Amino acid sequence: MAEHRPIQIGILGLGNVGSGVVRVLESNAEAIAHKAGGPIQVKRILVRDLAKARPVEIPPSLLTTDAQEILADPEIDIVCELIGGVEPAHHYVVEALERGKQVVTANKELMARHGHAILAEAARHRRDVYFEAAVAGGIPLIRPLKVDLAGNRIARISGILNGTTNYILTRMAAEGKEFSVALREAQELGYAEADPTYDVEGLDAAYKIAILAAIAFQTPVDVTRVYHEGITRISPRDIAHARELGYVIKLLATARDEGSAIDVRVHPALVPQNHPLASVNDAFNAVLLNGDAVGDVMFYGRGAGSLPTGSAVVGDLIDVARNIRFGATGRVPCVCNRNKPMRDIAELSTENYMRMLVKDQPGVIAGIAGILGESRVSIDAVVQKGTQGDLAEIVWITHPAPESSFRGALTRIAQLPVVHEICNVIRVER
Ligand code: NAP
Ligand code: HSE
Repeated sequence: MAEHRPIQIGILGLGNVGSGVVRVLESNAEAIAHKAGGPIQVKRILVRDLAKARPVEIPPSLLTTDAQEILADPEIDIVCELIGGVEPAHHYVVEALERGKQVVTANKELMARHGHAILAEAARHRRDVYFEAAVAGGIPLIRPLKVDLAGNRIARISGILNGTTNYILTRMAAEGKEFSVALREAQELGYAEADPTYDVEGLDAAYKIAILAAIAFQTPVDVTRVYHEGITRISPRDIAHARELGYVIKLLATARDEGSAIDVRVHPALVPQNHPLASVNDAFNAVLLNGDAVGDVMFYGRGAGSLPTGSAVVGDLIDVARNIRFGATGRVPCVCNRNKPMRDIAELSTENYMRMLVKDQPGVIAGIAGILGESRVSIDAVVQKGTQGDLAEIVWITHPAPESSFRGALTRIAQLPVVHEICNVIRVER
C-alpha cells in the first residue's frame, strides 16, 4: 500500500490498556505504518492526573486533562476511548462522532448498554465505532463473528470471558490461594476493572456475552436482563469436591438462540474435566461457538492485560486507518435486524451441585431426597464428605430439572430443622 499522511489519534485514558496501546504502536511502528498505509501518530492523551507516574515514556506535552483538546482538534482522525465506565465515555464517543471522527473503544460496559444507539449514531454520521478489545481482550471475536463467520446461523456460544475471575479460580484450585490474595494479584497484573466488583460479580462477563449474543443472533440484548452471578461464594471446599467428582469450576458465559427467544446468562458452573473449557487457566479466555455451516469453532487467548488488549485496539486502529485512506465506512456495521425476547432463567432446566451441612443423624438424607423427589428433581449422586462436630457435609448432584422446581425444593430443604446450612449451589454444564 502506498504511504500517505500520518493518521493522528487522540487517546482518552492512559491506564492499563492505554499504556499497552502506546507500547504496541511504538514497538511495531514500522510494520503498523506499512499495514495502515502510513504512520499512526498519537497526538494527545487525556488523563485525570498529569502528575501520575506512567508505565510508558510519554512526552508531558502530549498529556492533557481537557477532553476538548482531543474532541475539538480538527487534525485528530480517530478517538480511542480507553477510560472505561459509561460517563463521560458515552458523551465523548458521541461528541467525537458528531465532530466527524472515527472511534475505537475497549469499553464493554458502554457497548453492552448503549452499543445499539452508538452504532446507529455512527452510521448517521457515516463514521465507524470499532470495539474488538471490548470482548475477551486480545482474542479476535467481534470481527470474526461479523465477517469471517457471517455466512453461518449461530445457535450457541459458551465461554470464559473474564480473565480476573478465571485467574482467581485457577490460583485457588492450583495453589489453594485465598480469594482475596488471588484477586489482589489479578489487580496488580492489570486484569481487573477499576472496580473489581464488576469482575467478581459476573457483570463484566455479562456485558461481553451480551455483546457477542447481539452480534451472533442479530438482535439487541437488554443487558439489564442478562442473568449474572459471580464467584464470591465459591470456596476451596467446592473446588476440592468438584475435582473429586471429575469437574472444574469456571465462571461460564452462555448464550443460546432457541428460535423464538434467546437465553443469555453468566454464572459459575461445574464443567467436566475433559470439557474444552476446563483447561483454560489463569487470565486466558476461550469461546466455543457453533455455526450451522462451519460446525464447532474455539477461540483461545489472553482475555485481559495491557499488551493483549493493546493488540486488539491497535488492530482496530489499523483497520480504521485503512478505511480513512479508502474513504470507506460502514464495512462492519451493526447487524441487528431482529428483536428476540429473552428467556428468564427460571424457565430453564439445569443440573445442580449443592453442598450442605446437616445434622449427622439417621433419616436426614432420606428426608432431603424426599423433598427433591416431590419437586420432581432427580438425584444423580449424593456423597457424605465427612463430619464437623455433630454436623455432616453432604454434596449432591442433580439431573436436569426446571430451575423453578429446584429452587422451590431448596427453599423447603433450607427450612428443615436438621439442615444447618446450604453452603453453596452451583449449576453443572456438560
Ligand atoms: P484503568 O487502568 O483504570 O485506566 C483508565 C484511564 O482512564 C486512566 O489513565 C485514567 O486517568 C483515565 N480516566 C478515567 N476516567 C477519566 C476521566 N473522567 N477523565 C479523564 N481520564 C480518565 O483502566 P483500564 O484497565 O486501562 O481499562 C480501560 C478500558 O478498557 C475499560 O473500558 C475496560 O473495561 C477496558 N478493558 C480493559 C482490559 C484490561 O485488561 N484491563 C481488557 C479489555 C478491555 P489517570 O491515569 O490519570 O487516573
Ligand atoms: N477485567 C476484565 C477481565 C478485563 O478480567 O477479563 C478484560 O476485559
